[in-house]
Amino acid sequence: MRIKVLKDGPYEVTGNVPLKEMKIGADGAGESTHWVDGREFETEETYHLCRCGNSKNKPFCDGSHMHGFDGTETADNISYDEAAIVYRGDGMDLMDAEGLCAVARFCDAAGSTWRLINDAETGETAVRQACNCPSGRLTAVKDGKKIEPKLPKEIAVVEDEPEGMHGPLWVRGGIEIEAEDGTVYEVRNRVTLCRCGNSANKPFCDAMHMDGGEE
Ligand code: FES
Repeated sequence: MRIKVLKDGPYEVTGNVPLKEMKIGADGAGESTHWVDGREFETEETYHLCRCGNSKNKPFCDGSHMHGFDGTETADNISYDEAAIVYRGDGMDLMDAEGLCAVARFCDAAGSTWRLINDAETGETAVRQACNCPSGRLTAVKDGKKIEPKLPKEIAVVEDEPEGMHGPLWVRGGIEIEAEDGTVYEVRNRVTLCRCGNSANKPFCDAMHMDGGEE
């Protein structure tokens, strides 16, 4: 399974990667608390996902990028461990690579993950919130080990229903992402790819879709 970033064009997905929709679920207070499975898309061995934001057939590419899309990749190809700051808590740590934030807001609930790590009693909630973070910005660490949710290898098209926005592509389970120049980004269990065309950290999402760019 592989995702290849094509020059000023879509993501080429090969290897029969399952594709489905996942929606951000919120509680009565509007805080992100859970994920809701959406529809599954029928796909073939190879398919192309829009990353310019202009397709009329989202999430698939319809060739609209040919009307002028600068898809230049701008992300630093550095490891998560290099990018992340470590916050020390009570019995656990929290790694935070802020530049990867896709603003899914699971970390804002219940007083914020950064606060929850400071009390052993709320540590479990902090771990759950970090594991719900689609971009992998946040990672909970206990006894020196990163805690990762078990995710199938698939791509989820994120729908941010509480905010009425289309979100990024959530690459789950550790699928290789190859840059246009052939280099491979660090393979991670959770990562989000831009599909509005406006990220300043392409190919990754940097939450620009929240600024009015349609994803
Ligand atoms: S990348 Fe082809 S239509 Fe958006």
